[in-house]
Formats: sequence, C-alpha cells, structure tokens
Amino acid sequence: MKKTISVAPMMDCTDRHERYFLSLISKHVQLYSEMIVSNAIIKGDRDKLLSFKKVSNPTILQLGGSNPKELAEACKIAEPYGYDEINLNLGCPSKKVQKNKFGACLMKEPELVAECVSSMINATKLPISIKTRIGYDDVEDFDFLKNFILTLKKEGVKKFIIHARRAILQKLSPKQNLSIPPLKYDFVYNLKKEFKNDEIIINGGITETNQIKDHLTKVDGVMIGRAIYHSPYFLADIEKDIFNNDDVPTRSEVMEQLIPYIQSETKKGVQLNHIMRHTVGLFHGQTGSRQWKQYLSKNMCIRDADIQKVDHIMDQIKNNNLSSSLGA
Ligand SMILES: Cc1cc2nc3c(=O)[nH]c(=O)nc-3n(C[C@H](O)[C@H](O)[C@H](O)COP(=O)(O)O)c2cc1C
Repeated sequence: MKKTISVAPMMDCTDRHERYFLSLISKHVQLYSEMIVSNAIIKGDRDKLLSFKKVSNPTILQLGGSNPKELAEACKIAEPYGYDEINLNLGCPSKKVQKNKFGACLMKEPELVAECVSSMINATKLPISIKTRIGYDDVEDFDFLKNFILTLKKEGVKKFIIHARRAILQKLSPKQNLSIPPLKYDFVYNLKKEFKNDEIIINGGITETNQIKDHLTKVDGVMIGRAIYHSPYFLADIEKDIFNNDDVPTRSEVMEQLIPYIQSETKKGVQLNHIMRHTVGLFHGQTGSRQWKQYLSKNMCIRDADIQKVDHIMDQIKNNNLSSSLGA
C-alpha cells in the first residue's frame, strides 16, 4: 500500500486558497477541505462551497452530517467538482457540532454511522473515508475502537484516519480537545495490526519529519494539521525528507508563483486577505518573519474594488523581491 502524507481538514484554515498555496510547496501531500455540512451543500451556494482550482495533489472533501439521505445527496452534488475522495467527520467535539449531531458524538451511534457511510458509498463512485478519534468521554477502550472500525469496514469503508486522542464532549472546548486528552499512538498502531488490508492513517501532535518516518514504519499514512498551518514551509522538509524531492521552490518562489492565482482570483471578486492570510506563517522561523507579518497586516485588507492596488502590491513583491529581502 502506498504511504501517504496529508494536510488535515481545519475549519477556517484549509479552504480552497490555502490548498492552492500549499500545492505550490508540495506536489505530493493530500489536501483535505475544511468540514462542510451536508445540508449547506444541498441548500447553499454549491459553487462557492465546492469549487476549487484543480491541482495535482489529491484533494479530499470532508463532510459533516448524520442524515444518511442528506449525506448521499451532498456526495452526488460534490462528485463533479473534481475531488478524489469524500471523508466523513466523526471526530469534531465542538458543542455546536454536537447539537447538530455531527462529529465525535457520532462515535456513540455506530449503527447510524454505518447507515450514513453505506448511503454515501451507494451515492458516489468516489471512495469514502472517515476521520475519528480513539474514543470519547470515559470510553477509551481498544475493543470499542476496533468494533467501531469493523462496523464501518463491513459497509465498505477502507480508509480510516485516527486522531490519536479521545474527545471529551462536555467538559472541554474544541481547543482544549486538541491538547488535553493525551495522545495514545499505540491505539492506532494496534488498529493497523488488526486491519492489515485497510488504510490506517495516524493524526495528532506530529511536528517533525523524524516522527513521520517513525509512524510510517507502523501505519499507512500520517496526517498533519497545525504544524503545517502555522509553518507551511514545513512541507518543503516533507518533500525533501519523505518524498526525496529536492526540487522544492524557495519561499520567495512560492510567493511569486502565487501571484498569478491572486491576480485571477481578485479579478473574480475575492478579497486579497482571504488568500494572503494563509501565507502569514510562510517565513516562520526566518529572519524577517515579523516584518512579513506586519507587511501583510498593513497591506492585505483590500476590497475587491481596488484591483489596481492589488496589482501594485503584487508588483512590489515581485520587483522589490520583498520576500527574499526578508531572508528567505
Ligand atoms: C483550527 C482547527 C480547525 C479544525 N477543523 C477540523 C475540521 O473541520 N474537521 C476535522 O476533522 N478536524 C478538524 N480539526 C482537527 C484537525 O484535523 C486535527 O485532527 C487536529 O488538529 C490534530 O492534528 P495536529 O496535531 O496535527 O494539528 C481542526 C483543528 C484545528 C486546529
């Protein structure tokens, strides 16, 4: 089975602009969308929610929902937009999400989840995967996790992404739920031993390529969220150390390659800061990182009417080679 590295789904982070930006640094990582609620796809502006500029990276849509019919309809609507896979969110612990019965609270209802994935599989040719946690509240038991995965496998799911910590549904905020419940990677390694022919992806707290290499000796893939969002150029290390690809653009080249995309998107009415906000961490750890952030906050809140001004700033980045003068 081919080993994979992916960028985790993150609300307000992994929108289509972020994914395009990341695709300039790494051609190999898989890119997940932020969670989109099935009913929003059915009732909302589909093109706005689902369209994206195609890149060579596999791109995966993550859905939130618990109504089998709605999830099936959302899959049907999404299929022509060019995603490579559809993922169901069974790991988000936020109160709002629980109120609507999405995310991690669905671990309590394996039979309903089985109905959901079965209905999604029947609705689309695209592969259906799930992303979940190792347990919830006081339930942190390998047999529970194994049976949960087995129930979904029986419906035809073959790819399972496991955030290696429990979700504490009532007592912790979503942010606390990303750090307080301890990481238990052994749960995921043991799952792989039980499900040898299925794809088991590990997620949670991974920040270095050495850790990635170690996990890849035990599971089929590694998913990384915050470490890439906060420092997108971590992907360059991943390209070099994991994919043995030395042909990675410098930080300045990444910015230059982003310019045509920015010009075309802003001409269509996208606000510049909706794209540029994702580049804030590009110079993380470099001399000049602070100046880059200040430059962005001063110049990037331009409305769509000011196309000329956008062009001017882009010329500045290009001609004054702003990013390389920052020490990239
Ligand atoms: C800002 C933010 C938003 C997130 N939104 C989602 C989401 O929409 N769907 C999802 O399955 N997980 C979401 N997560 C969880 C991440 O996908 C990932 O499981 C978690 O951050 C642990 O990985 P990490 O330690 O590499 O960041 C989010 C995490 C963060 C920090």
